[in-house]
Amino acid sequence: MIYAAARSALFRMDAERAHGLTLRALRVAGALPLVPGLFRALTQVQDDRLAVEAFGVRFANPIGLAAGYDKDGLAVRGLFGLGFGHVEIGTLTRGPQPGNTRPRLWRAPEGRALINRMGFPNGGVEAFLARPWPRPYGPVGINIGKSKDTPLNRAADDYITLYERVAHRASYVAINISSPNTPDLRALQTRAYITDLCGAIARTRDHLAQRDGRRVSALIKVAPDLEAAALDDIVDAVLGAGLDGLIATNTTTSRPSIAGFDPAKHIGREGGLSGAPLRARATAVIAHLRSRAGVNLPIIGVGGVDDVSSAIEKLRAGANLLQVYSGLVYRGPSLPAALARGLSGVLDRGEDWRKMRL
Ligand SMILES: Cc1cc2nc3c(=O)[nH]c(=O)nc-3n(C[C@H](O)[C@H](O)[C@H](O)COP(=O)(O)O)c2cc1C
Repeated sequence: MIYAAARSALFRMDAERAHGLTLRALRVAGALPLVPGLFRALTQVQDDRLAVEAFGVRFANPIGLAAGYDKDGLAVRGLFGLGFGHVEIGTLTRGPQPGNTRPRLWRAPEGRALINRMGFPNGGVEAFLARPWPRPYGPVGINIGKSKDTPLNRAADDYITLYERVAHRASYVAINISSPNTPDLRALQTRAYITDLCGAIARTRDHLAQRDGRRVSALIKVAPDLEAAALDDIVDAVLGAGLDGLIATNTTTSRPSIAGFDPAKHIGREGGLSGAPLRARATAVIAHLRSRAGVNLPIIGVGGVDDVSSAIEKLRAGANLLQVYSGLVYRGPSLPAALARGLSGVLDRGEDWRKMRL
């Protein structure tokens, strides 16, 4: 109810401006003494059955914030106040980047969808590290990406350097090779690059683990627009290198239509589509990855999760954890707690998704 009023004011603004305001509010609230802790106490669903252990990290509930919402990690404590079980920040790049020219983010409310061609605007990893890092309330993933001007044959250096720089602040590191808005980035998912890239990251992870006595898992984030054989190549590279998991999926360059959403109305808005129209494709990718990877490789499912049935669908397809972005824009800040409560209710009814995998 309260969000309905705020939403209509926010939706009258340019989408990126509204996002900036919301993030600032979360940053300010998160920096106030006691406030984020109080909110967390109110929003945290107390149900041990929701806890997930994956890649060496314990999550209080499966619902996380997807990358791109808080690119520079400015509002992590405020975001945990909404009841998330984890928060993924980034994408961070080595140097600061302005991203693409505006406008670069559009809403499609009739489809509960967003289209973006942001291009990794962020202050760069050194600015992130220079800011204080108050202890977060839960696991924080740090998503890293290749700079726009790094050629593909030097991309592995970007990921290795970024991994080394951020690992001490991260519960896990997400390797973003699937955003559609950095030229050529998605080529890193192909056989020509993926095996070497996974190997290089695994070696860096193991070297740091030995040096620092703390192993920080690395997960590969994949695009929804890959054919089955390309997905298989990624799974094989991840398993072959001993990386720790997958995040599926990033935004889509395709334009699936769903009831009420006509992509033709958004011609000229280039970039990645997220939200409800992505839901079915992302779930299909998760199911495929799960069938190829077997039961042991953790998968974070993301794409069009905005109610309990879309959450359950991805868990049943094989996801261990979930993330939301677009759903937060359309359903509002109560979404993470509502999803956790909803999943708890599903377990009360005796429907355990872990035993009901598709
Ligand atoms: C405006 C916007 C910016 C995003 N930026 C990033 C990013 O920097 N890195 C990344 O890995 N994914 C990014 N994403 C993708 C999301 O993390 C997520 O994979 C995608 O939106 C699908 O989830 P959703 O349907 O819940 O939005 C972005 C998405 C949106 C809408």
